[in-house]
Amino acid sequence: MDMTDKCVLVTGGSRGLGLATTRQLLQQGYNVFTCSRSQTPELQALMAQAGPARLSWCAAAVGQAEDEERFFAQAVQWTAGRPLWALINNAATAQDGILATLPNVDSERIIETNLTGALRLSRLALRHLLSKGTAGRLINISSIIGSRGYTGLAAYSASKAGLDGLTRALAREVGRRKITVNSVAPGYLETEMSASLQQRQRSQIINRTPLGRLGTVDDVVPVVLFLLSDQAAFITGQTLVIDGGISC
Ligand SMILES: NC(=O)c1ccc[n+]([C@@H]2O[C@H](COP(=O)([O-])OP(=O)(O)OC[C@H]3O[C@@H](n4cnc5c(N)ncnc54)[C@H](OP(=O)(O)O)[C@@H]3O)[C@@H](O)[C@H]2O)c1
Repeated sequence: MDMTDKCVLVTGGSRGLGLATTRQLLQQGYNVFTCSRSQTPELQALMAQAGPARLSWCAAAVGQAEDEERFFAQAVQWTAGRPLWALINNAATAQDGILATLPNVDSERIIETNLTGALRLSRLALRHLLSKGTAGRLINISSIIGSRGYTGLAAYSASKAGLDGLTRALAREVGRRKITVNSVAPGYLETEMSASLQQRQRSQIINRTPLGRLGTVDDVVPVVLFLLSDQAAFITGQTLVIDGGISC
């Protein structure tokens, strides 16, 4: 294990990609503070294994400004003077439904969580990094649906397209301060979020994917780790697509 005192904040670390990222970050020697609205046995087990100085969690709903501020304040306190290296905006929500019939409140909640929450957390993290004068990394977990669209996911598509725009703008705003900002855009992954796909939709996606399968979190986590590494110091403002070629 390559030990470091670097601290990384991950939203939505209780399951799926956020949990897998958290696990690998710990293995690489990073310290992780995460949040989600509820706990899972898997995250609890990881916390027990890692200990509170290396992995901590608070209940917070991204998309609610007070929760985001509390998450960030608790995270800074938890770092106990160790450098904050990165924020990974991973928490997101999706709901299948045609825009014309989806209740407005649901569309707004999707945008509020996936885009507005990520924007507000990015502001908190960047303010912190700029005030310390330290380098850092911001990674937004986007989706190929942000650039391609998908029937029934209009608000989700809009939120991810917005996130990629946020990535490009912030990369320009903070590049001179050695802070990089990138998006990672997976295709369809085997997680709870995609569990609602009907068999017909799964087969269609697999047929259209040159590499002939859905992605897994293990396809995505190494790219996140790479973006956090020194080797990625000259990459910013990009959206890295990991989709088995479906969008090529
Ligand atoms: N799965 C896919 O096919 C796919 C494809 C492309 C991109 N992505 C992106 O990859 C990221 C992770 O997705 P996933 O598949 O791992 O999703 P997931 O399995 O549904 O996990 C989502 C995580 O985020 C948390 N979360 C959800 N809403 C939250 C909120 N408002 N505040 C705080 N935490 C919240 C969840 O915990 P709680 O519910 O307890 O809050 C959970 O820990 C997302 O940004 C997603 O858009 C996924």
